[in-house]
Amino acid sequence: HDMVKLGLAGYGTVGTGLARILEENGDWIARRLGKRLGITKVLVRNLDKGRAFPPGPKTTFTTSMEELVNDPEIDIVVELMGGIEAPYQLIRSALEKGKPVVTANKALLAERGPELFALANRQELGLYYEASVAGGIPIVETLKQSLAGNKIKTLTGILNGTANFILSEMTATGMDFTDALGLAQDKGYAEADPELDIEGMDAAHKLCLLIRLAHGQDYPLHDLPVQGITGMHPFDIEMARDFGYRIKLLAQVKDRSGHLQAGVFPALIKEDHILAKVDGPYNAILLDGNAVGPIMLYGQGAGDLPTGSAVLADIMALARKTAPNNTGFIEESLPKAQILAPEQT
Ligand code: NDP
Ligand code: HSE
Repeated sequence: HDMVKLGLAGYGTVGTGLARILEENGDWIARRLGKRLGITKVLVRNLDKGRAFPPGPKTTFTTSMEELVNDPEIDIVVELMGGIEAPYQLIRSALEKGKPVVTANKALLAERGPELFALANRQELGLYYEASVAGGIPIVETLKQSLAGNKIKTLTGILNGTANFILSEMTATGMDFTDALGLAQDKGYAEADPELDIEGMDAAHKLCLLIRLAHGQDYPLHDLPVQGITGMHPFDIEMARDFGYRIKLLAQVKDRSGHLQAGVFPALIKEDHILAKVDGPYNAILLDGNAVGPIMLYGQGAGDLPTGSAVLADIMALARKTAPNNTGFIEESLPKAQILAPEQT
């Protein structure tokens, strides 16, 4: 078999998850692609850190971004380090050097995606990001391809695994907020800065990306109303439960005659509603297309293997070398959204 060589920037939760899947499913992937996938170089911060799952003897570690992007052997650059400035520089220089990129970095794409997609389009390269929204759930590809002919009237998502895990643990066991957050961090669900999860910004990043995919409009992150779950008390949860409700952190966008009404907020959901049953690190996206009707996607929204699964799908799509179409729209850049403020509640 030919080998498609991967340069990984980041070998934490998601990078390690990807390596585990490549090890476990390598033969199966080779059968589908007619090529093997191999991690040849890994960029990390600390070379001395013990690695729970080392990537194998053919992989070299580096702390130099230049070394990774300048390596002529590398076919696809996979950005799994997080943050904004460093991954921005890395992705930009990889694209400038003619290398397609896969990333799980929703914060970067929400803030500087349009610029990076424009560069990728100019370079006729793929910049793929399935893992950046809702972990293992294939929502990016679903909106970009499978539902592309629909107008999406409403989309409601539980898009943050950490927040949903915290709320679920508080509901099921009465655990307090801080302990539940600690457990989510131990399990690898949380961002390096967990404020992004609990303050709602991570869900906001993801909602921005979904709005672009579903509506072909650029809804600026700073215009999005965002409220998180920080300070949620077991008493709030118990009170909601006593009245037959669950509290969920929702991300929502509605198309109101061409104006978009969107936001991230904790909401009371009737306990028999399908979204009330989405617990733990699971995420869900419930949407209504004007042709297809209602659709719900459900699955693990965070964690090493589910997220690695989505990263791998993008890598395999690039390895097959189809023509890139990064935003799902042919325009060079998306028009700014027509914004309608949310109703006061
Ligand atoms: P981790 O913190 O577990 O891992 C980050 C990795 O990147 C580490 O290997 C770290 O090196 C390396 N790294 C970070 N900054 C730099 C830098 N400036 N230079 C070189 N190496 C660097 O993060 P995750 O794996 O959890 O997340 C990675 C990305 O995936 C983030 O964008 C996150 O938002 C996204 N994501 C995460 C999910 C999850 O469930 N965890 C789900 C979906 C998306 P070292 O090991 O030496 O510290
Ligand atoms: N921190 C994120 C979450 C990771 O908890 O959902 C998945 O994007």
